[in-house]
Amino acid sequence: MPSVFIKTYGCQMNERDSEAVAAQFIARGYALATSEATADVVLLNTCSVRDAAEQKALGRMTQLASKARKQKRQVVLGYLGCMAQSRAGELLGGGVKLVLGTQKLHRAAEYVDDLLAGRTMAVCDTAAEAGSEAHIRDHVLALNRPRPPVKAFVSIMQGCNQHCTFCIVPQTRGEERNRTIEDIVAECRGLAERGAREITLLGQIVTSYGRRTIPDRDGRTAFVQLLEAVNALPGLERIRFTSPHPKGYGPDLVAAYTRLPKLCESAHLPVQSGSNRILKLMHRGYTRERFLELVSQLRAARPNLGISTDIIVGFPGETEADFAETLDLVRQGQLEFAFVFKYSPRRDTPAAAMPDQVPEAVREERHARLLELVTAIGAARFQQMVGQTVQVLVEGPSRRNAARLEGRTRCNKIVVFEGSPRHIGELLDVRITAASAITLYGDPASLNPD
Ligand code: SAH
Ligand code: F3S
Repeated sequence: MPSVFIKTYGCQMNERDSEAVAAQFIARGYALATSEATADVVLLNTCSVRDAAEQKALGRMTQLASKARKQKRQVVLGYLGCMAQSRAGELLGGGVKLVLGTQKLHRAAEYVDDLLAGRTMAVCDTAAEAGSEAHIRDHVLALNRPRPPVKAFVSIMQGCNQHCTFCIVPQTRGEERNRTIEDIVAECRGLAERGAREITLLGQIVTSYGRRTIPDRDGRTAFVQLLEAVNALPGLERIRFTSPHPKGYGPDLVAAYTRLPKLCESAHLPVQSGSNRILKLMHRGYTRERFLELVSQLRAARPNLGISTDIIVGFPGETEADFAETLDLVRQGQLEFAFVFKYSPRRDTPAAAMPDQVPEAVREERHARLLELVTAIGAARFQQMVGQTVQVLVEGPSRRNAARLEGRTRCNKIVVFEGSPRHIGELLDVRITAASAITLYGDPASLNPD
């Protein structure tokens, strides 16, 4: 039985895609290898969003190919996903036999069968395929795990039509295409029946879900209809989604936070910049004022809402004054966690050709200043939670200290505490006793003694 190892770079969508590909291999009789070193097939599921992500995957592949050559091992090496889509045939060779684009992931096992059997020498397939969004639905449940996972991820759509001027995703993932509500709800129901308590709905721009294919009903957009349907599933306790776009938060979605009890008090709201001039150059479709208004509306709907964001520093033409507006927006919005990225020019995107590209040293310096501010805000907000009792979904042993347990609050903060593994998968009330800038420490308030 040949074994396969899939390594994932990039976002949660990619993690989910890799899992669906892994499930496909298992269905065809493959085993999942525990490391690259022993696998017969190694696939790198790539990310193209920044150059650093591409370089990581390219570097890794070079290492894998040279190791296989030295050890005289026959290994099928392949690229999947976004970088495969954008670089296509140029990735073949040097030991790489498979290059599979984002709409062809469901063909991976079939192509690898052909390669292993010698029916073909190399495959590069990056064509568009109608209906490919419906193929990301299989899960690897309970594999190598003592019990089924309590958290699951469900892909609801592919692609993005927003065309932010810095972003390569519309090229690599294609036009927005959505699965049906029925199909998604059936997948979520199956997961809940097998023990999932929390589901995260995934897509590049989930707030645009179904907007061209599913009509509004009672003033509710397709995305809110989907949230309502998932909220109604028995057994499920928590719903999250990522990534939304700030312009997609209509009144119906804000109201969903007051109506749907399973919708968690956490929002990832990628803002990218606090300067209206830069937001316009980025083609984001909102202003800083509108963004801050949205933050207030959501906090009014759910006072404990945790808000995280994505910010790009050093977008072409960003001045010190523009950057000061970003710092100010983070302060005003009290954004407690941010993924801060240095702008990375991407091929065939409008921003890459814009004048006034910002020097690397300036990007570095703004990156450090912004991170410092966000960390300080986050630390203060974490500190405020000391003394509160919060609901935690217990996910498993703590990653830093396996003798303790780890879980997340509804507002998506990690909590570490003492407890028996039998509580994994349960919702516990935990009293917060201490906080660092990124972790809460607690005392379970609702535990029965063992
Ligand atoms: N909606 C998508 C966005 C994908 S990219 C999602 O999160 O699934 C994720 C983040 O990467 C973006 O929000 C943006 O902050 C950052 N990013 C995208 N293109 C970039 C670029 N060219 N340089 C630096 N950061 C970038
Ligand atoms: Fe990229 Fe903007 Fe879409 S960041 S994924 S083009 S919303």
